[in-house]
Amino acid sequence: MAILLTGITAATMTGGYGLIPDAALLIEGDRIAWTGPRSDAPKGHETLDFKGRLVTPGLIDAHTHIVFAGNRAAEFERRLQGASYEEIARAGGGILSTVTATRAATEDDLIAQALPRLDAMIAQGTTTVEIKSGYGLTIADELKMLRAARRLGQLRPVTVTATHLAAHAIPPEYKGNPDAYIDDVAIPSLRAAHAEGLVDAVDAFCETIAFTPAQVDRLFTAARALGLRVKLHAEQLSDLGGAQLAARHAALSADHLEHLSPEGIADMARAGTVATILPGAYYTLRDTTPPPIAALRAAGVPMAVATDCNPGSSPMTSLPLAMNMACTLLRMTPEEALLGTTTHAARALGLTDRGTLAPGQRADIAIWDAGHPAELSYRIGAEALHKSIIGGRL
Ligand code: NIG
Ligand code: FE
Repeated sequence: MAILLTGITAATMTGGYGLIPDAALLIEGDRIAWTGPRSDAPKGHETLDFKGRLVTPGLIDAHTHIVFAGNRAAEFERRLQGASYEEIARAGGGILSTVTATRAATEDDLIAQALPRLDAMIAQGTTTVEIKSGYGLTIADELKMLRAARRLGQLRPVTVTATHLAAHAIPPEYKGNPDAYIDDVAIPSLRAAHAEGLVDAVDAFCETIAFTPAQVDRLFTAARALGLRVKLHAEQLSDLGGAQLAARHAALSADHLEHLSPEGIADMARAGTVATILPGAYYTLRDTTPPPIAALRAAGVPMAVATDCNPGSSPMTSLPLAMNMACTLLRMTPEEALLGTTTHAARALGLTDRGTLAPGQRADIAIWDAGHPAELSYRIGAEALHKSIIGGRL
């Protein structure tokens, strides 16, 4: 049950790239047992030689919405004719058009439509995927989405974590009454989903077109009373102080953050909240206010990078492409981008058993047709994955 990988350049992602040239890595069962220079490798194991290829931890996509029905290509066309994402949302399109399609779909339909997206992610080196609900917006439809997410994790070898996001939009039947929606649907669906073991974390969309900090605060208080960790779509289109609210609830992450304030950065740094950067949404919405990367870096806030794969603002499945955009559009370094899809992404999900190539970690490993980790961010839309090993299995 042990296998030694040789002929590899290992980017262990322990304190930066943590590069070991001419390395070897021993897998025992579903765990990494040893890694170091090939000359020091333990002897007597079956070996697999990878001819100088780069090996990294399997990539972790810490923010996705891949369970949904239909698509929003027509909205894409409208935006190209000048309509904004917010205008479309206020007119009942946007997220709500996906809600209509998702409510009409069965759990099996949702799985059938999400599987090609999940497979596209796996083909690009992803081995752990967070999936949010948030297109059901009734108790039954939120549960349906979360059950679909759980089943996706059984249909493929990757780890799927499920995030409850009923506080994503205000459905038509609660228009003008978001407080009642929080009380009637968001909190009860959270309790029901938690009772069924369907929730790993709780998220919300804090924005002028969605929920106020006071409404999110009530949901987060209910979540934490259940012992659940929270995360937040914060400061994407405007600054409502969502990052400060998230930090007050010891959030795992605050995500998007284009309009993040210095106070938000300071509070996140103090709380140890990860900043999840979503360059696909920035790109798709042709945003011109980048998240404050330099200030986050200076404050020592760990940054994750995720696809935000969703039908409206980021129809993207490739983490290496997200890394490329994080560097070129947002000026992250390739090292930060890879930390953002490994070590820091694990932290954004509260997972301590993955994200580095260190003894004891899960054997989730990506083997690339590349020699140096900067190549992963440098190429645009490349298909650079050679093979992946998930839970010790090739
Ligand atoms: O992360 N910002 C809110 N939610 C998603 C978009 C969802 C959608 O447009 O369908 C996001 O960008
Ligand atoms: Fe999102």
